[in-house]
Amino acid sequence: MFSFGVMASGGGSNFKALLEKVQDGSLRAKCSFLIVNNGDCGAVQIAKEFGVPTFHISGKTHPKQLEYEEALLGVLSNHPVDLLLLAGYMKKIPDSLIQALPERILNIHPALLPKYGGKGFWGMNVHRAVIENHEKQSGPTVHLVTSEIDKGRILAQTPVPVLEGDSPEELAARILQQEHRLYWKTVLDYAKTLKLIL
Ligand code: GAR
Repeated sequence: MFSFGVMASGGGSNFKALLEKVQDGSLRAKCSFLIVNNGDCGAVQIAKEFGVPTFHISGKTHPKQLEYEEALLGVLSNHPVDLLLLAGYMKKIPDSLIQALPERILNIHPALLPKYGGKGFWGMNVHRAVIENHEKQSGPTVHLVTSEIDKGRILAQTPVPVLEGDSPEELAARILQQEHRLYWKTVLDYAKTLKLIL
């Protein structure tokens, strides 16, 4: 059994998929907290349903960068975790957080990195660019988080075909289904590699 925290900004379907795998025993872990930078996002509702403590920490709640970073680190010191999982978190992770959890922060990205990663490539922007460039395939990547956006070591990917006439939304939905299958398995494998579980 190991523990993880999650950071999310949006609907939270990846967060929910992780919690369902904890609930059915496939992921032998405990989710200790959710951090959101948007108090109204769908992930907050999911945390309520699953009884996960939630913290809203953003530029609004903490306008000064130092206080913002201290608030994030404060959650970690009150709720120590083995892994921190970004699940649709749309804000850059401060270096202080990366240093506090070296090689322990994972992200899921909706394209086959190193393509379509980095500044500006998030959410629907990624799928729009993939379609505009007539790519034959796309798909999710799980990688470690470093100070360079989307550049950390790749842990796993799932190729997904881009179909003729796909809209960004259709492609996003097909990739999201694969994200839900990929993230928990990659987390489990990585936890085994780190010997957090057998
Ligand atoms: C997912 O597609 C995730 O890969 C993407 O945001 C979506 C969140 O969906 N993340 C990024 O673009 C990060 N660069 P969800 O809130 O339903 O899990």
